[in-house]
Amino acid sequence: MTVQDALEGRMATTAVNSSAGMAPAAPVVVARGLARTYTLGGVAVPALRGVDLEVAAGELVVLMGPSGCGKTTLLHLLAGLDAADDGELTVAGVDLRRATQRELDRFRRDHVGVMLQSDNLLSTATAREQVALQLLARGTRWRDALDTADVLLADVGLAHRRRHRPADLSGGEQQRVALARALAGNPALVLADEPTGELDSATTGEVLGLVTRANQLHGTTFVIATHDPLLAEVATRVVRLRDGVVVPPPPGGAVQGTGPS
Ligand SMILES: Nc1ncnc2c1ncn2[C@@H]1O[C@H](COP(=O)(O)OP(=O)(O)O)[C@@H](O)[C@H]1O
Ligand SMILES: [Mg+2]
Repeated sequence: MTVQDALEGRMATTAVNSSAGMAPAAPVVVARGLARTYTLGGVAVPALRGVDLEVAAGELVVLMGPSGCGKTTLLHLLAGLDAADDGELTVAGVDLRRATQRELDRFRRDHVGVMLQSDNLLSTATAREQVALQLLARGTRWRDALDTADVLLADVGLAHRRRHRPADLSGGEQQRVALARALAGNPALVLADEPTGELDSATTGEVLGLVTRANQLHGTTFVIATHDPLLAEVATRVVRLRDGVVVPPPPGGAVQGTGPS
């Protein structure tokens, strides 16, 4: 199997999304007035207080804002891992506020790839198994899943590490496995929570290069929460959150990454 074969699904989706010059594709994310309040020891902690956000297919959106502003909460809602209390949320065409449990399970399995802090690699599985399990869940036969996993790992420069377990991989290598896993099966949207938070700048550069390549080459849509200015530089758009709402871009000058748009 070649990289081409492994990515065929992704390419096909991109082609459908651009619809050969027809009407623009529907946004991958549409959030309106999205709210989420946690209750901690009987005290209400509002994490999101009416988030409006649209993300078009092919964007690489970076979410920035001070610690506690709601980035992780928003990513969990977009991933279908947590439910909003109020507002509207459609991701990859699925109305997450009205979806049944079964629809939510299918949404998580088929439409989103995640690199979340709560979603670490399995300590007992090799790199290729971590990626292959993702594909197995989507109905791919185990042998084929392993073949595709090898291609995806080669694509992130880890062919020589594919039989290693997380304990035998560096932090940067673990993040690259997590990225390969998130990209497996061609999800409409990849969500990442501070993916470079614990990496040195050289390794950060490598992970960023791979993210940008997936975005530019295959049209994969990303929403990434970060404090990292290097990530903001490669974004097609920077969205700022403060106190659980999106900060409007300043008039005349959109808050924008300097990367390709
Ligand atoms: N499970 C939780 N229970 C209670 N409060 C929470 C929980 N998760 C987050 N919060 C609170 O919600 C707010 C937003 O948190 P979070 O989404 O983690 O922000 P960020 O990722 O931007 O640092 C913070 O005030 C945080 O303390
Ligand atoms: Mg966070």
